[in-house]
Amino acid sequence: MMRQPIIAGNWKMHMTNTEATVFVEQLKTLVANTSCEVVVCPPFTAISTVADLVEDTKVRVGAQNVFHEESGAYTGEVSPSMLTDLGVSYVIVGHSERRSIFKEADRCVNKRVRIVLQHGMSPILCVGESLNQRESGETVAFIHSQLEMGLHGVPAEEMTEVVIAYEPIWAIGTGRTATAEQAGEVCQSIREKIATMYTPEIAEQVRILYGGSVKPENAKDILAQTHVDGALVGGASLEAESFTGIIEAC
Ligand code: 13P
Repeated sequence: MMRQPIIAGNWKMHMTNTEATVFVEQLKTLVANTSCEVVVCPPFTAISTVADLVEDTKVRVGAQNVFHEESGAYTGEVSPSMLTDLGVSYVIVGHSERRSIFKEADRCVNKRVRIVLQHGMSPILCVGESLNQRESGETVAFIHSQLEMGLHGVPAEEMTEVVIAYEPIWAIGTGRTATAEQAGEVCQSIREKIATMYTPEIAEQVRILYGGSVKPENAKDILAQTHVDGALVGGASLEAESFTGIIEAC
């Protein structure tokens, strides 16, 4: 079965509403003929504008996070229905910056994965090891444990909506990319883990992305790996030219 590749841009804390408008107008025309799924994840403040601009195009909108309650006294948080109401279809969950800077633990990552699915959106569940863990040979075991905790209680029938992003922490924003083989190996081990947690058939359908210093120059080799179904792009997703370069490599 063919998995449709996804190229997703995580804008992080970049782009005002005005800048987002200019960017998306450019992007829309550049990706009009692509066969892969293109997702942009603006900051919350630009989601509404971006969603309006990409209506009737191939570009989908994602959010960078969500809170795991339906509503309530949670000052500063954004609920799942606030996102669906704007037309959001993907939500990044458990990004390493959220885990390390904002101390989001696996338990809350798991709650977010589940609530995103309950609202008919697809979580992009991020996993990835530190340099220390890689150097001590703990990569696969650590990522498998992140998968077990992140996917706890996710029913089989919803699992094919989940997207996994393998983002080694040491490769994020550092210009130091995992080799295509390293990315391929870990993505394969993620698929094998999903096969044991669910079924091989489900694992075959789940899309697994690589993220960490993806650029037009290295995208082709990484995306050529059998178990890499796309990319989650930070820095290079902020310029229309580099982002479309990656989409073309796909
Ligand atoms: P960079 O592409 O800037 O390394 O960021 C990757 C990332 O964190 C995407 O979520």
